Amino acid sequence: MIKRIEQLRDEGQAAIDAAAGTAELEEVRVRFLGRKAELPRLLRGVAELPADERAAVGRTANEVRRQLEAAVEAKAGTLAGAELDAQLAADRIDVTLPADPAPQLGRLHLITRTRRELEDVFIGLGFTVVEGPEVERVYYNFDALGVAPTHPSRLLTDTFYVDPIDDIFDPRSLLLRVHTSPMQIRAMESQPPPIYVIVPGRVYRPDNDATHTPQFHQLEGLAIDEQITLADLKGTLLTFAQAIFGPDREVRLRPHFFPFTEPSVEVDVSCFNCADGVSEAVTEDGDERCSLCKGTGWIEILGAGMVDPDVLAHVASGGYDPEKVQGFAFGMGIERIAMLKHGVPDLRLLYDNDIRFLEQFA
Ligand code: PHE
Repeated sequence: MIKRIEQLRDEGQAAIDAAAGTAELEEVRVRFLGRKAELPRLLRGVAELPADERAAVGRTANEVRRQLEAAVEAKAGTLAGAELDAQLAADRIDVTLPADPAPQLGRLHLITRTRRELEDVFIGLGFTVVEGPEVERVYYNFDALGVAPTHPSRLLTDTFYVDPIDDIFDPRSLLLRVHTSPMQIRAMESQPPPIYVIVPGRVYRPDNDATHTPQFHQLEGLAIDEQITLADLKGTLLTFAQAIFGPDREVRLRPHFFPFTEPSVEVDVSCFNCADGVSEAVTEDGDERCSLCKGTGWIEILGAGMVDPDVLAHVASGGYDPEKVQGFAFGMGIERIAMLKHGVPDLRLLYDNDIRFLEQFA
């Protein structure tokens, strides 16, 4: 009897060792340890054995059952681990592979793209990019820039004031900046000369039509150093115009007025749509004039000028002594540059979020 139990142990152990998968192992377990298997049956019959055999057989059979149970458990553990590894290897997903179908890539909005293009040009010229608050003080937006208290642009029809609207002439009152020029003062307050900065950002005015939206973008430029002249302004703007509108462009300065520059100019770029103001495509009503420059050969692109000494006087204690330093400033509408460059006919297209329009600008 003991011999047979030992034989069962050896057979069982061999079968467990040979099991190649969890299903096969379960079969082996049932064959050797299941209710109807020989060893458990034998154990159940121990009581009927002669007294002198009972103890030895019972002990050996119990021991072998425990051994086989332990062997099954150990083997189950290794098999399960191996099977999990195999499954993981088979199911492996390479998350770096391109999706199928490939997802549609997004793109930068034309305004963002144009802003970055402009930034690149001026960074290349040695300017650094700074940004400022859109909710601004009357002081920075108007007073420090020499805008007279009687100037109509201060009225509620031209400027958004921020609630509570106390006194729109109080320098501390808050408004939505109407231009990026307040950053001229803030930038100079934050560092001594020389300073070469550009300021891209959102600005706000209560207008809404084909060429005006209540919120739009400007890019301000400010250069203050010793010995800066109007020629430096023109050279800087010529480089900008050629980089953005093509190498054959020219710029011209026309006298103008801004409260914070003296002299002030409006800057035109030579038309990049026609040779001499005459369009190649004659319109239906027989008009031969170029639609972009209206036959003048020039397109207005921005306002600029030499920084007024009165503006510098506000930051004189920071090193901007108008007797020692001078410089130029300019400000352009980013939407206007984008529209001119890409022939966008209506400003509102830039804000409608129509994918058919936006996806044209890769
Ligand atoms: N801030 C002026 C505007 O919004 C533009 C400008 C900037 C003019 C700097 C001169 C110098 O129209």
